[in-house]
Amino acid sequence: MQLDDLDIVVALEHEIFPDPWSYNAFKEQVEDEKWGGFVALSDNQIIGYACYYIAATESHLTNIAVTDDFRRKSVAKLLLDNIFKVVKEFQCEFLLLEVRPSNKSAISFYEKYDFKLLYQRPRYYHNPIEDALVMVHYFEYEMED
Ligand SMILES: CC(C)(COP(=O)(O)OP(=O)(O)OC[C@H]1O[C@@H](n2cnc3c(N)ncnc32)[C@H](O)[C@@H]1OP(=O)(O)O)[C@@H](O)C(=O)NCCC(=O)NCCS
Repeated sequence: MQLDDLDIVVALEHEIFPDPWSYNAFKEQVEDEKWGGFVALSDNQIIGYACYYIAATESHLTNIAVTDDFRRKSVAKLLLDNIFKVVKEFQCEFLLLEVRPSNKSAISFYEKYDFKLLYQRPRYYHNPIEDALVMVHYFEYEMED
């Protein structure tokens, strides 16, 4: 994800989420070396995106979304695979995320990729107000001699 992508990404974000991130929220992360993101393209059009944040040995999946027409075609899987690859290069121990308990499709997606429930954070989301499920995926590394 680069600055040039943000107009489209933010437009999609507003279509997909009731509590979308602003242009400036995306811009901040694109410009910060601890943050990063990927866009998925079809015929050179952005059809999905995902962002991460790395803090020492922690990593966070801050956002992931795919446009309606391209869902259930493994686009999110591809985005997540790329994020797994980057955060593992930084030797992160785990990848954390928040999800609304009502977002059953996202929860199914995360469970498929081995995210487990860590705890429920009360009233985390706004518009509408809702708890967050905090989920985590742990990475395993080979021990060196
Ligand atoms: C969650 C989301 C990103 C998944 O994207 P996607 O590209 O459709 O996901 P994939 O095709 O890679 O799905 C991989 C697997 O996840 C699971 N999955 C994905 N969507 C699912 C759904 N709606 N219901 C049940 N399982 C689902 C399935 O196991 C699926 O494998 P399968 O299609 O072979 O059965 C997409 O639904 C989305 O953009 N939702 C709106 C934005 C959002 O809620 N983001 C998460 C915020 S926390």
